[in-house]
Amino acid sequence: MESEKEILLQVRNLTVTYHTRLGLINAVDNVSLDIYRGEILGLVGESGCGKSTLGKALMRMITPPNEIKSGQIIFEGEDIMKYNQRQMRDFRGRMTSMIFQDPMTSLNPVQRVDEHMVEAIQVHEQKMQMEKALERVRTLIGRLGIQERRLNSYPHQLSGGMRQRVMIGLGLLLNAHLIVADEATTSLDVIVEAKLVDQLREIREEFGVTLLMITHNIALVAEAADRLAVMYAGKIVEIGSVFDVFDNPKHPYTRGLLKSVPSIRMDENEELYKMPGEPPNLTFPPTGCRFHPRCPVAMPICSKLEPALQEAAPKHLVHCWLYQDHPLKQEQAVLSEK
Ligand SMILES: Nc1ncnc2c1ncn2[C@@H]1O[C@H](COP(=O)(O)OP(=O)(O)OP(=O)(O)O)[C@@H](O)[C@H]1O
Ligand SMILES: [Mg+2]
Repeated sequence: MESEKEILLQVRNLTVTYHTRLGLINAVDNVSLDIYRGEILGLVGESGCGKSTLGKALMRMITPPNEIKSGQIIFEGEDIMKYNQRQMRDFRGRMTSMIFQDPMTSLNPVQRVDEHMVEAIQVHEQKMQMEKALERVRTLIGRLGIQERRLNSYPHQLSGGMRQRVMIGLGLLLNAHLIVADEATTSLDVIVEAKLVDQLREIREEFGVTLLMITHNIALVAEAADRLAVMYAGKIVEIGSVFDVFDNPKHPYTRGLLKSVPSIRMDENEELYKMPGEPPNLTFPPTGCRFHPRCPVAMPICSKLEPALQEAAPKHLVHCWLYQDHPLKQEQAVLSEK
């Protein structure tokens, strides 16, 4: 991305707390993040690292007793944490749109696709005539690669991929500036996925929409996204252009994650790398850097102090002591030389 990119969404020091049987956990812990207008940002990380929680928190969709404990979410210059209920409804309806892990749950099972879509148009253009609204829907679904006959289908009659595209379409009809797609492609096969990637990029070009793509599928993100953020145990540990993060991963966790992805270049007998250890229990997260118990290059400082998320290369931010200085680090280096 170019340096002059306009920031659409700014997250500062965001912490989200869940009440669990074992106590309170910060599923998102002091996260700061910028999303640029018009970009596709991929968000990856092992299951349970807080991706969906972050996505929901961006729309203030965390419900009591769970809460956004602290932090700021600035969308197009306004702090949405200060919005009242009416402003929030407007924000969720028109500015943003969230596609959940299973879109079946967010579509009305007894409403056909065309009904969903016309309703979306009428939310902000109530007077638009039915025929005109349908015309707009037909043009849009063509662009999304959905056949016209599908307009008469009910959600359960569509494949997972098509439901996802209907949801993206609804976001576009509502004129959403930001679409958060959580696991938009889990249930799709490889060919359908490749097609969706092309379409996502086309949609972005055409509608100027911004997409946050939350997924397990790193290969897909590599194709579709401009930038990539990697999460570990409630923290963003690395963020940068897809090119930089893939070609020059800096965080030891990102390196492990990329090594554990199957590649076509692999020999059929070659064993896939498996990262040692498990993600931590968030009720008692490790001190210092949360990754240090699993980290192959951990230093003494890593279990004591938490690093900042800082530039390790231009526009490539990493949350790791390998790239940051601290008096304690030098002291320990001297001690170990003795
Ligand atoms: N409603 C909830 N109440 C209590 N704990 C929750 C709740 N939702 C999520 N969690 C916990 O918060 C942590 C982060 O969960 P989250 O769903 O955000 O992870 P994720 O990265 O989206 O995982 P996945 O890749 O499996 O979708 C996990 O430890 C999870 O068990
Ligand atoms: Mg999730």
